[in-house]
Amino acid sequence: MTRKLKTGELELRVLRYNPEIDDAPHWEEYRVHYEPMDRVLDALHKVKWFEDGSLTFRRSCAHGICGSDAMVINGVNRLACKVLVKDLKHPITVEPLRGLPVEKDLLVNMEGFFDQFKKVMPYLVNDEPVPAGERLQSPEERERFDDTTKCILCAACTTSCPIFWSDGSYFGPAAIVNAHRFVFDSRDRAGDERLRILGQKAGAFKCRTTFNCTDACPRGIHVTRAIQEVKREVLDRSI
Ligand code: SF4
Ligand code: F3S
Ligand code: FES
Repeated sequence: MTRKLKTGELELRVLRYNPEIDDAPHWEEYRVHYEPMDRVLDALHKVKWFEDGSLTFRRSCAHGICGSDAMVINGVNRLACKVLVKDLKHPITVEPLRGLPVEKDLLVNMEGFFDQFKKVMPYLVNDEPVPAGERLQSPEERERFDDTTKCILCAACTTSCPIFWSDGSYFGPAAIVNAHRFVFDSRDRAGDERLRILGQKAGAFKCRTTFNCTDACPRGIHVTRAIQEVKREVLDRSI
């Protein structure tokens, strides 16, 4: 018989998969003690450090900056370092992001995600002579793309998108957000080229405004709005 949880103890159910020994993913349950301000990342660390060192997951900054610990927590894409266990319904379930190949346990292969990101030219292009000072920009011009500068490339948006699940060729919301950041930058000179890429079959027009991406973004970026702005820009510039 399963023993009752002790005070201050939580049950964590983790979808485990080791391709070297498992035919399919399976759930494992762990019981760990938690402090009032512990996050899901702390609970995963307790499992790894004190229960089962083979549990595999990715994390780096532990403070919502690097974007490496996005996973599905209680059915929703979140950063494990940003969610307090006391704010979640127990038992807590943790699964790898959907739509990306699982390497082991909660660790997914991000190569395809970054390949799509690279396709949209996510960098500033300007081959005009370098000015003596800075390339100046007004506060209004800077504000135009402020929201999309906040992206930390965690993939929570793209892996919550049903279009991406059914069609791996779709660039996905994260790539389009990062294109938006440069398309609307007054210093950039590759807007038309970038919009031509985004107007392709795999580009922004595949989006069906489902809004899952906006709900999933841990940075609060208006992802769907950014995609709509990119679509409108493609049409306005007749690209
Ligand atoms: Fe993550 Fe938001 Fe960037 Fe998507 S837009 S990759 S959810 S930070
Ligand atoms: Fe997908 Fe977001 Fe569009 S969830 S369909 S990219 S609004
Ligand atoms: Fe860096 Fe969570 S570990 S965002």
